[in-house]
Amino acid sequence: MNKPIYVVGGSKGGVGKSLVTMALIHRLTQIGETPFLIDADTSNPDVFKSYETEVASELVNLDEADGWIRFVNICDENRDSVVVVNTAARNNVGVASYGGTLSQSLEELGRKLVTLWVINRQRDSLELLQDYIEAIPNSTVHVVKNGYFGADAKFELYNGSKVKKSVETHGGKSLLFPDMADRVSDDLYSNRLSIAKGWETMPIGNRAELRRWLVEADKTLGAIVAA
Ligand SMILES: Nc1ncnc2c1ncn2[C@@H]1O[C@H](COP(=O)(O)OP(=O)(O)OP(=O)(O)O)[C@@H](O)[C@H]1O
Ligand SMILES: [Mg+2]
Repeated sequence: MNKPIYVVGGSKGGVGKSLVTMALIHRLTQIGETPFLIDADTSNPDVFKSYETEVASELVNLDEADGWIRFVNICDENRDSVVVVNTAARNNVGVASYGGTLSQSLEELGRKLVTLWVINRQRDSLELLQDYIEAIPNSTVHVVKNGYFGADAKFELYNGSKVKKSVETHGGKSLLFPDMADRVSDDLYSNRLSIAKGWETMPIGNRAELRRWLVEADKTLGAIVAA
């Protein structure tokens, strides 16, 4: 098997897709991978802007057929890289229309598709997940409960859902992603810092919080990205 493709999805706006993508790129880099970033959020490419000088990266519009073709070609042209895709909000329409382009190419690419589906505590996150699984049935899907929206127990809708059972029956995991103190996340976002840059430039107190968060985020992602 060649290196995997990670798609960070969720379809909803503001659930934490970009932050999960950043944590994933950081972890991959830490374990010696050279990830290739595809930022599909072409109208607000926040991850691209924070990472373009550190990792190979490209903006690709996955609302259009052309974008999905480019996505597959990038996977083929960059065999030595894990490919990480940060998706935009409302990406479900593009996935339903053109996701087959990727789905059908996985075998020939010799790559596994792993999806990290980021959720908040609302029901529509789960309905959109069901649609995604139907559109791309050959992806392993892990659900990432974003702790920004509350402790694990507060994700009761998901924790008691059929979709959780279905995810786990197919080898997916249900993970809790740590909340980062606002002061640090604001710093990262407003200054368009990568996690590594934040680490170099933040004041000592902010760095202490960043370290705490990274240890937790690494535990979460370590369950699916083996060193
Ligand atoms: N785990 C977290 N800890 C701290 N802040 C978070 C966390 N997750 C999300 N946020 C905050 O919520 C906001 C939205 O997060 P993010 O940009 O990652 O979401 P998104 O799903 O990529 O949004 P969009 O759909 O607009 O691309 C950010 O301002 C971020 O600071
Ligand atoms: Mg985003």
